[in-house]
Amino acid sequence: MVLAWFMAENWSGDQREEHHKQPPEFVELGTLYKLTRVEHYKVDQLNPSNDELLNELKKNRGYSYEDEITCSKECLQDYENKLKMFFEEHLHTDEEIRLVLEGSGYFDVRDVNDSWIRIKVEPGDLLIIPKGIYHRFTLDTNNFIRAKRLFVGEPVWTPHNRPADHMECRKEYLSQIKSF
Ligand code: LAC
Ligand code: NI
Repeated sequence: MVLAWFMAENWSGDQREEHHKQPPEFVELGTLYKLTRVEHYKVDQLNPSNDELLNELKKNRGYSYEDEITCSKECLQDYENKLKMFFEEHLHTDEEIRLVLEGSGYFDVRDVNDSWIRIKVEPGDLLIIPKGIYHRFTLDTNNFIRAKRLFVGEPVWTPHNRPADHMECRKEYLSQIKSF
């Protein structure tokens, strides 16, 4: 089971800690979807090309591009700056699709009420973060993650930092999330 929880509003200190509310408030997968439209799947990360679910997703959603990214001090060029950039609240004009192969980290997403939900990802977790949702990423205290990135067509990784409320993808996202 993937773990997700509401973050304490006034946390301070190291972004790589859990930053639970007191007492902790966990978010179940179904609730996560309702509040954010973020999707989660479990994939065989040791043999992803033979994973039926992943192959179905690729086919049905047109994920034609894939590569790998490793975030660690040794492997990521310009490590400190990149990590800072990943943790800036931002959105994209396309889905952000990540399959964790090794290591772990946190994807933070803003829910429909603008609260932060922290999603802990581990090997085998596939997250689909919708276009137009505000989010950010951080390593946890293990300081290492290796993930597969998927994309429809030619990849565009450009982050648009908040505020980006005028963007079409943002408006579309908001109209979806508020229409249930
Ligand atoms: C990204 C993650 C860090 O945009 O949100 O790659
Ligand atoms: Ni992003």
